[in-house]
Amino acid sequence: MAIQPDPTLELAIRTIVDYPKPGISFRDITTLLGDARAFRRAVDQLVQPYAGLKIDKVAGIEARGFILGGAVAHQISSGFVPIRKKGKLPHETVRIAYSLEYGIDEMEMHKDAIEPGEKVVVVDDLIATGGTAEAAIKLLQSIGAEVVAACFIIDLPDLQGAKKIEALGVPVHALMEFE
Ligand code: PRP
Ligand code: ADE
Repeated sequence: MAIQPDPTLELAIRTIVDYPKPGISFRDITTLLGDARAFRRAVDQLVQPYAGLKIDKVAGIEARGFILGGAVAHQISSGFVPIRKKGKLPHETVRIAYSLEYGIDEMEMHKDAIEPGEKVVVVDDLIATGGTAEAAIKLLQSIGAEVVAACFIIDLPDLQGAKKIEALGVPVHALMEFE
């Protein structure tokens, strides 16, 4: 699943044990984002699978997917669409509930953010159970998007999220894996 293991990127991730709940090892990307070289390398690697493809929109998932998705969209010259936690978007939305590694939530996006048939790449920092990415993909598909891939810095393969997304027919790209 990882594109090409890059030890310098893995070293840029900080792990916080027992956050936000006992038993969770939180993979913190703020250290990678704060390291100019690591941030650039990560974005360069995230866009690799889409070289030469016409991607209409990048959909970034709140909150960390906004940072990465904005950079990816800029680099591949596509538009950017925010997928937000409920209650934050001002215009007419579509909404979906989803479950997380440590809770449940609802996300939404503007109904008119994507034209039917537009090619969309979903971007987030991390895939764990895949519940968040699955909900984002279903939301996008519900308004006619063609979701061509989902990409992440980190995959936690023990939680089988990438398998869940690939079972939907959406390829998953991740830069690294952690237990
Ligand atoms: C984290 C992460 C992903 C999601 C992955 O976000 O940024 O979006 O969890 O988990 P899953 O694969 O099990 O669904 P979080 O919900 O903590 O929100 P935040 O980025 O706003 O902190
Ligand atoms: N989101 C869900 N699980 C996570 C983890 N282990 N680290 C960081 N973000 C997460």
